[in-house]
Amino acid sequence: MKLWKGRFSKEATSSADEFNASIGFDRRLYKQDITASIVHAKMLGCQGIITAEESSLIVNTLKEILTDIENGNIEFSIENEDIHMNIETILTQRIGDTGKKLHTARSRNDQVALDFKMYIMDETHEICSLLKNLMEIILDIASSNQKTVMPGYTHLQRAQPVTLAFYMLAYFQMFKRDYKRFVNAYTNMNEMPLGSCAMSGTSYETDRKYLQKELGFASITENAMDSVSDRDFALEFLFCCEVVGIHLSRFAEELILWSSKEFGFIEIDDSFATGSSIMPQKKNPDMAELIRGKTGRLAGNLINLLTVMKGLPLAYNKDMQEDKLPVFDSADTVKDSLKIFALMLNSIDFKIKNME
Ligand code: ARG
Repeated sequence: MKLWKGRFSKEATSSADEFNASIGFDRRLYKQDITASIVHAKMLGCQGIITAEESSLIVNTLKEILTDIENGNIEFSIENEDIHMNIETILTQRIGDTGKKLHTARSRNDQVALDFKMYIMDETHEICSLLKNLMEIILDIASSNQKTVMPGYTHLQRAQPVTLAFYMLAYFQMFKRDYKRFVNAYTNMNEMPLGSCAMSGTSYETDRKYLQKELGFASITENAMDSVSDRDFALEFLFCCEVVGIHLSRFAEELILWSSKEFGFIEIDDSFATGSSIMPQKKNPDMAELIRGKTGRLAGNLINLLTVMKGLPLAYNKDMQEDKLPVFDSADTVKDSLKIFALMLNSIDFKIKNME
């Protein structure tokens, strides 16, 4: 039986259940959901809202569930709608009614705001380290090409002689700003929303400072209605991803031009190119083209969530469940693009004589 079914006399049709469910995609939040639930259960125990025994039973069982999910031993169900209710149901199946006490002084509204934020913060860490890796490769190319002369262009017309190092360092600056942009977004979102409950807090004596410290946030959010309605952090993340995409796309475009016979400035390694059976002279820079192309998805994902959020009244609305797919897609796309771009760039053969 669904956790919220108290007032209902009819089951939802199965097509409505499927339409409503987000478990198909929000299962990705399982780690954040369990980590946050463990801290919440500890807080409930410390505050005497549940007993110490209940608290440690919940915590230990959640840890077992985490291991079981990671070993692929858990099947989620559409009937249980989303990752939050799935995990709570599994917990209750294992330890009975004590499992239900985990949801004391909490709602899925503050739960999802927290889980989603934690997910985005984790992804931000990963993207920042990929940006750093790319910047290091750019620096390496720059430092070994301080005397490599090449044309600089304006209007794509030969303009003034520059060095390859100078050219590379222009992109270095863009990725450095991208890095800072993610750090700024991270700093903005570093406020812990749990304790806001459905929209107006709770009459239980919870300890939000404890939650904040244990979950590693810099501070707590200040208004419960805002806490459950805010998706600015996801929008900022999507914008940061899109700007990285634009920088990668411009760089990819240079590499595509430079690898043409007309320029002849570089040769992209065979492992990052494709060929043609009827035009054997060709070496197509597919990876660079795909990275350029994927910028469209990154822009689309940002516009997607901006449009979802526009005009939503306070507080939580189910529209907001649509926030996850664009964020998951942008995070994956940016990480994949950064990884492949760095490898490709690292393997490029610069035709120094042609540049000169
Ligand atoms: N699956 C929902 C989402 O991702 C969780 C929050 C649901 N809250 C609610 N009151 N129905 O947005």
